Order: sequence, then C-alpha cells, then structure tokens
Amino acid sequence: MTESQVKKIGVLTSGGDSPGMNAAIRAVVRTAHYYQIECFGIREGYAGLMEGNCLKLGPRSVKHIINQGGTILKSARSLEFKTPEGRKRAYEQCQKLGIDALVVIGGDGTFTGAKIFCEEFGIKVIGVPGTIDNDIFGTDFTIGYDTALNTAMQAIDKIRDTATSHNRVFFVEVMGRDAGFIALNSGLATGAIDILIPEKKDSIDELFETFIRTEKTGKSSSIIVVAEGEKLASTYELAQKTKEKFPEFDIRVSILGHMQRGGAPSCADRVLASRLGYGAVIGLMEGKTNVMAGIQSNQLVFTPIEDAIKKSNEIDSELVKIAEILAI
Ligand code: F6P
Repeated sequence: MTESQVKKIGVLTSGGDSPGMNAAIRAVVRTAHYYQIECFGIREGYAGLMEGNCLKLGPRSVKHIINQGGTILKSARSLEFKTPEGRKRAYEQCQKLGIDALVVIGGDGTFTGAKIFCEEFGIKVIGVPGTIDNDIFGTDFTIGYDTALNTAMQAIDKIRDTATSHNRVFFVEVMGRDAGFIALNSGLATGAIDILIPEKKDSIDELFETFIRTEKTGKSSSIIVVAEGEKLASTYELAQKTKEKFPEFDIRVSILGHMQRGGAPSCADRVLASRLGYGAVIGLMEGKTNVMAGIQSNQLVFTPIEDAIKKSNEIDSELVKIAEILAI
C-alpha cells in the first residue's frame, strides 16, 4: 500500500446508538494504529466535534469493548451542527487538533451532516452504517440490525407464551422509524399472523380478514407485528379498531421500544462492525472521501454518501409473501 493520505483520524458515533458501534470504534482505532495513523475519539457525536471534546485513542483504549452494547464515545443528535456556524466551529476544532479525516458511525442523519461538512471544508469523511433499522442504501446490513432483530424475536417469543396461555391477541410494536425490516423479519421468525410495515400499503379490512381466516383454521391466540413507522394507524389505534370489530377478542398491546437498541452485539454484528471499521480506514488511506463503507454480497464496497442517504433498501417482497402464506 502506498503512503497513507491521512495522518490523523477522528472517529465519532452519532444518532441512535446500535449494538456493534463499539466493535466498529475498536476496528477503526486498531486499524489506524496498525498503519501508524493517529486516532482521536470524539465524544457525543457532532456536538463533541464542535466543542473539541475528544481523546486520543490507542489499541489499549478500546480493549474489552467488542462485546459491549451502546457506544463508549456516546451519541447525540445535534441541531447546531445543522447550521453553517456550528459546522464552522467543528472545522476550527479539526484544524486545532490536526484532524484531516473523520469516520462517522451512524445512520442517514449522521451521513447528511458528514456530506455537507465534507463538501464545505474539504475534510475527508467516510461513513459507517450503524443503525438497528437497516434502512441504509449501499450495504446489505447495518451494524446493530442483527442484534436488534434477535432481541425483538426473543421478546415476541416470550409474548407468544403468555398470549397462548390466555387465548389473547397481541399487537407488538417493534422499532423502525421509516423501515419495516425488523418487523418483517421478526414477524416471520415468530409466526405472526400479520405484519404491518410502512413499505407496503396495509388496510384495516385486510387485517380483519386475516383474523377471520386464521380463526377458521383454529387459532386461539395471535400475534400481529407492527413497525413503529406503520402508516395505516398507530399500534394502539389498530388494537382499538380490532376490539370494536371483534368485541370478544382479549387484546393487549406491547411496545418493545428501546430495549431493541441495547445488549451485547451478536456475532454477525461484531464481524460486520470489524470489517466496516477496518474498511473505513483503508478507504481513507486510499484517498476515498464522501463515501460510505458497506458490505454487499460479502464484499467491501464504497457508496457515495449522497446515494446512501437518498436511495433506499428495498423490502424483499418474496419475504412478505412467505410470511403471508405461512401464517395460516
Ligand atoms: O433510528 C433508530 C431508531 O431506534 C428508530 O427505530 C427509532 O424510531 C428511533 O431511533 C428512536 O429514536 P430516539 O432514541 O431518539 O427516541
């Protein structure tokens, strides 16, 4: 490899945290160390960048974190970084510290900030997709998605036990602000009778028909998985409308919430995070900028950040069909 084009990298986590972010930080720090590039950890995302709130990281600074959920650097959503004044402050801090490149770990909000910052001030930036929602174009999976999916699956399995014991109908809401990946896959994996996601057009009549059909086949309890971003109605409204239509149903609502964002990362997430953290540093050394590192078909790929933000990952329509067929 020719001499690196960067000398000092800053790494930060921003937006909603996700399990595996620590493994990604570790990979950035240790890859940088291996190639004799200095590395600074920036605390609390872009807010910390504007304040110069950072610490020098070496290989031992990131020991015993590959298995920890959350992010040792902490995360934040900064409104000030959205302003030109905020970004100018961040640039002045980069100059003061001698940081010539950033690895930003997060989702589309994080990447939007990174893109503008990079274009305004010429700081090299590579994005690493870290969000449980799996809604980033340019990578087959985002860091944290696999762990969150398994957390949701295990929670729904537990709800299934009590639903069966009481012959109840449960509406379970899983995370996914604009995306139904967690809902579709956890719903399929737990045998939900219906899965409501923002990417497909759902109707209340279809939901009612599903209840009627599955009752006829002898089901005495049911799980309906609803993505947080479902457009038809809120999970509570869906439950209420169902109660009005079927007053005999004993219905409960369970919102899984932020438990899906925590916990030790799965093996798949640790490996993904390690590959992407490594890939981000290699990309910067090769002079890449304003791109996101991703894994597609098991290969490290770089996608323009603009595409990562503007394009979207499609829901697999065959999975939707399989879930429908199997939910008899
Ligand atoms: O983007 C990840 C995510 O967990 C979404 O699924 C959810 O809508 C959002 O973050 C919640 O954000 P906050 O932690 O700010 O409430």
